[in-house]
Amino acid sequence: MKIAMLGWGTVARSLMEQIEKRHDPTLQAAAILIRKPHPLTHPAMTYDYAAILADPQIEIVVEMISGAEAAWNYCRQAMEAGKSVVTSNKAMVSAHYGELLELAKKQQVQFRYDASVAGGIPWLRTISALKATDPILAVEGIFNGTTNYILDHMERDGLSLSEGIVQAQRLGYAEADPSADLEGEDLARKLMISAGCAFSGRLLRDQFKVQGLQGLTNQDIQAFEAKKKRCRLLSVLKKTEAGIQARVEPILLPLSAPLAQIRDNLNAGVLRTASLGELTLIGQGAGGPPTAHAVLTDILEIVKGCPVAPLRLREMKISEAAGDARYYVGTNDQTAPLFSGVTAEIRRSEGRVQLWTQMEDSRQLQALITHARTLDPQLFAARIQEEEA
Ligand SMILES: NC(=O)c1ccc[n+]([C@@H]2O[C@H](COP(=O)([O-])OP(=O)(O)OC[C@H]3O[C@@H](n4cnc5c(N)ncnc54)[C@H](OP(=O)(O)O)[C@@H]3O)[C@@H](O)[C@H]2O)c1
Repeated sequence: MKIAMLGWGTVARSLMEQIEKRHDPTLQAAAILIRKPHPLTHPAMTYDYAAILADPQIEIVVEMISGAEAAWNYCRQAMEAGKSVVTSNKAMVSAHYGELLELAKKQQVQFRYDASVAGGIPWLRTISALKATDPILAVEGIFNGTTNYILDHMERDGLSLSEGIVQAQRLGYAEADPSADLEGEDLARKLMISAGCAFSGRLLRDQFKVQGLQGLTNQDIQAFEAKKKRCRLLSVLKKTEAGIQARVEPILLPLSAPLAQIRDNLNAGVLRTASLGELTLIGQGAGGPPTAHAVLTDILEIVKGCPVAPLRLREMKISEAAGDARYYVGTNDQTAPLFSGVTAEIRRSEGRVQLWTQMEDSRQLQALITHARTLDPQLFAARIQEEEA
């Protein structure tokens, strides 16, 4: 079967290496769409997308470019031309998820996107397989290797947040503009895709809260250590009677918690179903070879004629996290008094005021934190996960 690749970046080049290593005459990368000359040339390179669309021998378009809208146009045209689509592009899938699924169904082609969440970990694939037998009750995990690397090395090596970013960039984990990772927006996209896959529901970006690592200081990290806690940036989806709870936020985990053990740039996804209990998948959530591996797995399933599990996104009832919670808040002297009614413990370290709240209604605490952040943009807050009894 002939495929066309869109883009010639990290993932696309790794995919080409993996395809070429297979020496499989039944799978041929017949075209690579580029938009400007590239120093690493390949005989299959072309600027002509219309020719790709018109070639009846090309049955799969593999989209590996950055950004949502150009990619959506390419994928839409490919499916309209009767070709199946495989993508690694979470920005595009999260922005056009429902439309992509509907179009694939209408055109009777396959749309596969396993690489768009957690790179090399077969995350969406596992969710789809498990939910066929047993409804998914909850999913949570660490789905951004860059921020996990930064947190881990702030803890282990005493790096500051900005030093952690520079080190992650040097190792190729963080992009030149790391804001989507740091502010949690990369995780928001993956949460929307995971929610669709797990609950067959449409989760919109304005339906859930996202908090990243902005404002985190070494004094905060030292305060967590003193309390035998470890901070991880978690994505959480939970089915409740009131609806689906969805959020991205830093959580202070007990040292013994499995997700507190996740080091460096690893990802970890935890799935819960009634009969299975918990299942945890740990591995490389990004990088060329792991992501290309997920893309190739999708391609080979199409080549083998494996059917894709039908999925249609419905409106989904969303519920805010309810119940009581405790938070850590690192802030300044001017903003700290806002928390006087809810503070259980207060410490000071090098100009940072460190507040550990008492158990309070989590919505009220979050509203207070949101207000306080307007006064102190360097405020860092994290929910505290209690030790299991
Ligand atoms: N890298 C990872 O670890 C990873 C993991 C999971 C998912 N992903 C996703 O996979 C996709 C590719 O990632 P990557 O790391 O390979 O990105 P990359 O190295 O930045 O490469 C992106 C490629 O897309 C091309 N491109 C961008 N816009 C285009 C357009 N409008 N038309 C044609 N080509 C266009 C770029 O061409 P120019 O050279 O001309 O700019 C470049 O070849 C992204 O959507 C990313 O979010 C990546």
